[in-house]
Amino acid sequence: MSQNLDAYWMPFTANRQFKKSPRLITGADGMYFRDDKGRQILDGVAGLWCVNAGHNRPRIVKAIQEQAAELDFAPPFQMAHPKAFELATRLTEITPAGLNKVFYTNSGSESVETALKMAIAYHRVRGEGARTRLIGRERGYHGVNFGGISVGGMVGNRKMFGTMLGGVDHIRHTHDPVRNAYSVGQPAYGAELADDLERMVALHDASTIAAVIVEPVAGSTGVLVPPQGYLQRLREICDKHGILLIFDEVITGFGRTGQPFAAQTFDVTPDLMTVAKGLTNGCVPMGAVLAKQHIYDTFMTGPDHLIEFFHGYTYSAHPLACAAAIATLDTYAEEGLLTRASEMQNYFAEGLHSLKGEPHVIDVRNIGLVGGVELAPLPGEPAKRAFNVFLDCWEQGLLIRTTGDTIALSPPLIIERSHIDHIIATLRSALRRAA
Ligand SMILES: Cc1ncc(COP(=O)(O)O)c(C=O)c1O
Repeated sequence: MSQNLDAYWMPFTANRQFKKSPRLITGADGMYFRDDKGRQILDGVAGLWCVNAGHNRPRIVKAIQEQAAELDFAPPFQMAHPKAFELATRLTEITPAGLNKVFYTNSGSESVETALKMAIAYHRVRGEGARTRLIGRERGYHGVNFGGISVGGMVGNRKMFGTMLGGVDHIRHTHDPVRNAYSVGQPAYGAELADDLERMVALHDASTIAAVIVEPVAGSTGVLVPPQGYLQRLREICDKHGILLIFDEVITGFGRTGQPFAAQTFDVTPDLMTVAKGLTNGCVPMGAVLAKQHIYDTFMTGPDHLIEFFHGYTYSAHPLACAAAIATLDTYAEEGLLTRASEMQNYFAEGLHSLKGEPHVIDVRNIGLVGGVELAPLPGEPAKRAFNVFLDCWEQGLLIRTTGDTIALSPPLIIERSHIDHIIATLRSALRRAA
């Protein structure tokens, strides 16, 4: 390797390990990456939960190329370009009923910050300015900005960064391996964990709480599928107390759980919904917050010439991102990808659950085309066993993802049965070799 790897400080990466033994990706097509040695690597994680239509899709590539040549940038403040409106309309055709206003961002983290700010400002504008408290959930992941790590609940992402936002509290996570290990789809036990929000209300009073934010399926913490009835109960408690419910659908959005959004899969509609990743098939950074009409309307007061919401980014509604997103939605629609996970999920679940009984496996979890395989940690060395399995799979030509000692799978939605067989066989052999 002649390339100098020194200057790049890599994100969420064991830099020293990587630089000793680099894993360099140089190309991609369909279900596969290509590495610098010319090997084909099966993509078991849609890049990073984002390349839902598979890699290098011609329609999306062409749209980005043509857009770059036609309009490279348009300022998003007090100005706009036509594709920003076209995309917003297209999005509201597939989002859960009532979520019909689109605010653009450039990432999942920015979507989360935007939604949290929107929630607090919404209550203020309608005269309940004391509602500033934000409630997250233990083990939640909402990106890496200060709002997101404050409402988030993964200790590694929080402990290094001081006191974060004040006025934040957390309900309990839903992981319950004693009652729910090896559940296929939604676990049976744990709806009552939503009542933890009542505990928050009893402690802080509803009049101080702006919003609660959860991932419908907690992804980054290791794939925690919501217990049956849990999200419904959360919705009911929010309604009872005037608390906004925010779903962070950054990974569950765009077909991952079998419907376009997890809100539809679980039949619970939030007040605000964050998306990113699959919005552009991962090709150009872009995120968005979907808001209910009444939230938007609440802001539309005061003199016409004044800005209603003091928030936005230089690259909000970037023309390249809008073009990529429209072409992505076309691709999803043409190939039925937003519901394809519901067709493939049984086969995927069978494969995953066949890993029960393999060395070190202590739980298997799944929904749609998301899978989690939890391993017993190496004594005294948390996360090392799963990381070793990750390295072994890479050597064998399969990209998986690990978080702690859980292996997470989220393949592109174009996956065929033969790819699932390949993923499971490779994982099985790596588990059998693992120390
Ligand atoms: C639920 C959730 N929210 C937010 C984010 C942050 O997205 P980004 O990395 O695009 O900022 C992620 C990323 O994985 C996520 O899974």
